[in-house]
Amino acid sequence: SPCIPVLPSGNSASRWRFDGFHDHVAAGCRRPRPEVAGGEEDRNPVIADFDGTLTRYWIDGRRGQTSHGLLQQGNAEYDAKRQALYEYYHPLEISPTIPIEEKTKLMEEWWEKTHGLLIEGGVTYDAIKKSVSEATIAFRDGVVELFEFLEELDVPVLVFSAGLADIIEEVFRQKLHRSFKNVKVVSNRMVFDDKGCLVAFKGKTIHVLNKNEHALDMAAPIRDKFGYPNGYNPDSVLMKQRTNVLLLGDHVGDLGMSDGLSYENRIAVGFLNNNTEMSFKSYLDAFDVVYLNDASMRGVVELVSQFI
Ligand code: TMP
Repeated sequence: SPCIPVLPSGNSASRWRFDGFHDHVAAGCRRPRPEVAGGEEDRNPVIADFDGTLTRYWIDGRRGQTSHGLLQQGNAEYDAKRQALYEYYHPLEISPTIPIEEKTKLMEEWWEKTHGLLIEGGVTYDAIKKSVSEATIAFRDGVVELFEFLEELDVPVLVFSAGLADIIEEVFRQKLHRSFKNVKVVSNRMVFDDKGCLVAFKGKTIHVLNKNEHALDMAAPIRDKFGYPNGYNPDSVLMKQRTNVLLLGDHVGDLGMSDGLSYENRIAVGFLNNNTEMSFKSYLDAFDVVYLNDASMRGVVELVSQFI
């Protein structure tokens, strides 16, 4: 079945005990909550990418939209300009043959142009709400189950995205009709003026290939008076030494999401959504577990119950 995880032998995933896994879940029972003193701050974190990882790649035969892609600025000319950029840069983003340095420059270019068009063409918070309500976007099967399970266990979840934080949070509100106290979104955040119009983006741009440079942004940087980070909140979920980290991504660049964190073991789960044949080998080399074809998150729920 295309939804069966592929566990490459000989890499780190094979060190983990998967025995008893399916019996445990088939019986519908979950592990008793592990005893950890101190609540969420002391638990091993889950770090998840958003687009194409938490969300579906295909929805009823149509491509699912990304947090960037769903946005209608209320200005057809600018929507068309951003779409033209998507058509040019997305094939480059997913090409397995472009060397990483070259691709990084292309991605920087794409994000810079897109953010520029969003500011120039105007965006309001109301347009974001309307765009989300009309969007073709859906969470992968099993994501709600995963989040509920992680909330029950007080496991911190960091949603780390090169998309748009304000839109991701609106997707959570509209599609899940609830928030999760353990979930934090780290992504490109918009700055609105008094009239609710976008005027700037906060901080340095996060694109698909520089997540490694931003990993510690998730650790609540303490900023100086000029807005530059000059330390990290020592109480942040990520500043503590961790035994295990579970990383979920759909792009090899997502592996950088855990850079700078101190942990003993990391399991990286990769969702391969496109160019399957050409990218399969590189995903197997890069990730510990690879899922194909919009597989559900239920396998990850099983993994979490053993690992986190
Ligand atoms: P991710 O970090 O959540 O995967 O998000 C980034 C995705 O957003 C990436 O796959 C490319 C996509 N994207 C668009 O769809 N339109 C855009 O204008 C830009 C800049 C990115």
